[in-house]
Amino acid sequence: MAVVYQEKKRIFTIYTKNTTYQMKVDSYGFLLHLYYGAGVPGDMDYLLTYYDRGFSGNPHDAGGDRTYSLDVLPQEYPAMGMGDYRSSALVVRNADGSECCDLRYAGYEIRKGKYGLPGLPAVHVQKEGNTDSAETLEIILEDSVSGVQVRLLYGVLEDEDIITRSAVITNGGAVGITVEKAASACLDFISGDFDLVSFYGRHAMERNFQRTAVTHGNTVIGSRRGTSSHQYNPAVILAGKDTTEDSGSCYGMMFVYSGNFMYEAERDQFGQTRALMGLQEDLFHYPLGKGESLVVPETVLCYSKQGFADLSVKYHRCIRNHICRGAYAFRPRPVLVNSWEAAYFDFNGETIVRLAEEAAELGMDMVVMDDGWFGKRDDDNSGLGDWQVNERKLGCTLGELIQKVNRAGVEFGIWIEPEMVSVDSGLYREHPDWAIRIPGRNPVRGRNQLVLDFTRKEVRDHVFRQICGVLDQGKIAYVKWDMNRSLADIYSAESAQGKITYDYMLGVYDFLEKLTAAYPEVLIEGCSGGGGRFDAGMMYYTPQIWCSDNTDAVDRLRIQYGTSFFYPMSTVGAHVSAVPNHQTGRSTSLHTRGTVAMTGAFGYELSLGKLTAEEKEEVKEQIKQYKKYEELFRCGDYYRLSSPFTDAYAAWMFVSDCKEQALVNAVMLETHGNRPISYVKLKGLLPGGIYVEAGSGNRYSGAALMEAGIPLPVEMGEYPAYQMEFNLLSGR
Ligand code: GLA
Repeated sequence: MAVVYQEKKRIFTIYTKNTTYQMKVDSYGFLLHLYYGAGVPGDMDYLLTYYDRGFSGNPHDAGGDRTYSLDVLPQEYPAMGMGDYRSSALVVRNADGSECCDLRYAGYEIRKGKYGLPGLPAVHVQKEGNTDSAETLEIILEDSVSGVQVRLLYGVLEDEDIITRSAVITNGGAVGITVEKAASACLDFISGDFDLVSFYGRHAMERNFQRTAVTHGNTVIGSRRGTSSHQYNPAVILAGKDTTEDSGSCYGMMFVYSGNFMYEAERDQFGQTRALMGLQEDLFHYPLGKGESLVVPETVLCYSKQGFADLSVKYHRCIRNHICRGAYAFRPRPVLVNSWEAAYFDFNGETIVRLAEEAAELGMDMVVMDDGWFGKRDDDNSGLGDWQVNERKLGCTLGELIQKVNRAGVEFGIWIEPEMVSVDSGLYREHPDWAIRIPGRNPVRGRNQLVLDFTRKEVRDHVFRQICGVLDQGKIAYVKWDMNRSLADIYSAESAQGKITYDYMLGVYDFLEKLTAAYPEVLIEGCSGGGGRFDAGMMYYTPQIWCSDNTDAVDRLRIQYGTSFFYPMSTVGAHVSAVPNHQTGRSTSLHTRGTVAMTGAFGYELSLGKLTAEEKEEVKEQIKQYKKYEELFRCGDYYRLSSPFTDAYAAWMFVSDCKEQALVNAVMLETHGNRPISYVKLKGLLPGGIYVEAGSGNRYSGAALMEAGIPLPVEMGEYPAYQMEFNLLSGR
């Protein structure tokens, strides 16, 4: 049993294979957090201490007891207004304008299976077919004055060491309230000195690794852009000071949400740390009428005492098996060629058919027609919203084009950007009020386009009909769902303004849910100017996401490194593009570009016709190589073997489930005269196993490969790349 309740002591304990999570309802009915970390038996309430602390107030119920203060005690869901001056998980504004919510324990339920969240993505256990493999704990808290009720939800995947948290806030009172801030998870640590690992970035350079000390004060990251953003990813790690890839304590918090978020790490006056993951408080004032509820998106927690590598493997498995859904969640992905960097807007039907013929000849599975096929769209200034095929540009109907592509021997995929409208479009001329903008003000433009008000059903329904009208024209096997600007001018003609950022995401999810239901066999790849919405929320609908608009192999090493801390490579769209690279001007060999791209959801993004005969042969070999290892890349355990931010080389590897096969990948980042040797230490092998390296036939013990490593060759030139396959010979 993963969840245990001790009636007498009112202690809730969640046990996973290697971790324990414990909380207690105290004598006043406050829900205190006792412990989260490595598996421990017994009750942890001995950790609570009570001292009279100056300027830390005492709840009324404590009477004359000055040693009891919520300002100091670790809590499970701290609400504003109760004498806890740290950051709150919940801020409620009552009808009288006061900001106070006194949450006390009101009951619990333990049930088989994992809870779901209405309208929101969440961890699921569909793969098992047997939903009993998970458990749900629900704890109910109530404020007796306002009638506000909070249902704290905990989902437990015992074997995976995964605990999920969400909260449903209901107005059980007679008058309206406003939720001003809501987190889904709070982790209070009564002791410990932490570093915060977060992933910052920008368009075309997402998810850079950053490790900073959690100091006194509040470290806040988040997004106000309407998307999870290129700038900060909604997944962070609190790590011990000495935690490395291979050892030490670390706590992951991953938000399953694609909109505005906020993460806080606060070190308080006594050196205690509070971590909060939830909805962004800016631009958020969510009114709840009598009986109405707000569901706070889920946070996935995971703890490891074996360092980042173990934590990542656990998140990867969770996302692959319990977040991604649909036909392609567990299926090999097509090797595709995308028309964007091959032709940008400058193509016609013949260009696409030619690309398809060349793709087929090289062994690819699909051609994707990117932006530019609809409405008036020969550049990025017009046409969005007019989802009618530009048959004049294509020289035929879409159905005919798809047939030609299929006859050439590959499948057909298409690009869409449903959430947007160009001012220069039929849709905007007809429905200017459907765009998000503030009446009386000129809107902020991004890429010269506006965002459609997806909080409105009629808007979504209209776009949905248009998109279905396109998808029904032939055998479309893949859709790239793009989103190319940040939201601004937050206003809706039909809604309370404080609801929009959240309701917008519900609208996007609703659309995606309908689309995936209507086209269950279509693979949808997410995208937002590359990785601007690269998060577990989108992965619930789109099992792969275009990781970055930056296709430069060397930059990609950093981007994919940062991405890999939470997200499995099966979700990482990665393509080989032309050199000099269109984003950086850098040139790398085709071999290096192939090595970097093929470990993700692989494809090409260049004019195949411009390849030399020799390059074509190499591409054929790359595709064979990718297909040979496809299952290993998609299902194997992934390990980082170096940091491209600090090491002279980038290296990473995959190990099969049973540890019988491993593929090591490396790219040299530095070139010097008389260069020192780089030794790559492998991970995840059987130490007692004997492994054969496929290229040389050399034999090594797993222990030697992991403890001493293997030397990388010294080679002239910039950024040489290597792939080495190891197979287990004996020692299972
Ligand atoms: C975004 C995407 C690109 C491409 C263009 C098309 O930038 O990330 O891959 O699809 O839009 O306009």
